[in-house]
Amino acid sequence: MKDQLQALEKEALQKVEDASSLKELQDVRVAYLGKKGPITEVLKGMGKLSKEERPVIGELANKVRGQVAEAIDSKKAGIEAAELEKQLAEETIDVTLPGRPVPTGGPHLLTSIVEEIEDLFIGMGFEVREGPEVETDYYNFEALNLPKGHPARDMQDSFYITDDILLRTHTSPVQARTMNMIKGERPVKMICPGKVYRRDTDDATHSHQFTQIEGLYVDKHVRMSDLKGVLDRFAKQMFGEDREIRLRPSFFPFTEPSVEMDISCKVCNGKGCSVCKKTGWIEILGAGMVHPRVLEMAGYDPKEYSGFAFGMGPERIAMLKYGVDDIRHFYTNDIRFLKQYHQA
Ligand code: DAH
Repeated sequence: MKDQLQALEKEALQKVEDASSLKELQDVRVAYLGKKGPITEVLKGMGKLSKEERPVIGELANKVRGQVAEAIDSKKAGIEAAELEKQLAEETIDVTLPGRPVPTGGPHLLTSIVEEIEDLFIGMGFEVREGPEVETDYYNFEALNLPKGHPARDMQDSFYITDDILLRTHTSPVQARTMNMIKGERPVKMICPGKVYRRDTDDATHSHQFTQIEGLYVDKHVRMSDLKGVLDRFAKQMFGEDREIRLRPSFFPFTEPSVEMDISCKVCNGKGCSVCKKTGWIEILGAGMVHPRVLEMAGYDPKEYSGFAFGMGPERIAMLKYGVDDIRHFYTNDIRFLKQYHQA
């Protein structure tokens, strides 16, 4: 039995030695140390041995088992280390390889233009305000001197939600809201950018949703020349110091007098071309002196206070500045269009 155990030990150790994978090693463990393995078998037959032999064989069998187990464990550690080594070698990362480019976004042209206009007016002491896109008929029309049934309401075909609530057709209601809130406590000098909605059929120059920036300055002694000075500065900073502006008489119910502002055409330098429709001038925005009734409705005494207001479309400004020929480009998000205006 002793010889048998020693032979088993030799055989098992050889198999451990020959094993080249964890799987083979596990097979050896099961074969020699498992419940049905030969060493267990030997131990089971110990009952037949004499009293003297039993402890000797028992000790030897345990020793053999211990040695085989130890050999398996150390071989296992060796194989695992070698496998890890192999994996590390195979998966080596070449940190000097150039990375894959990660496409990054950038501000939308419209966002950039709005921010540029905001910065420009902030520089002239205006604050930036916001107002609701779902507006009441009162603020959108009535508080701006457009009572129900006023023909000028038809100029702005509206999306009504109820009889009294609509999607704002312009950012002018924020004028009335702001004046109402401040009520003469301090001068109001604000601009308000935001989305507006009109029941227009979309084409190259119209969109049912677009952007406006409203401006308002109310204080004691605000004059038309203040309006002209602010707009002139705006036009020059936006389109170039060589641009001229011109104010033409116009009509808006919330301003009196009302004007429209043109800038001299950059393409032909005032000579007349297709961009300016042969006039040498391009229309940019509407403006005027805040109508006394509008001031009054907002709680100001028009004998003491005066103000100017203006409204412009940043899409139009961007179209003129960058030669964009279709307003729909701003909303369809064709990546080829958007990319042209990233400074990244
Ligand atoms: N709200 C006008 C529009 O949507 C634009 C406008 C014109 C605003 C004159 C003004 C203004 O504040 O004074 O057509």
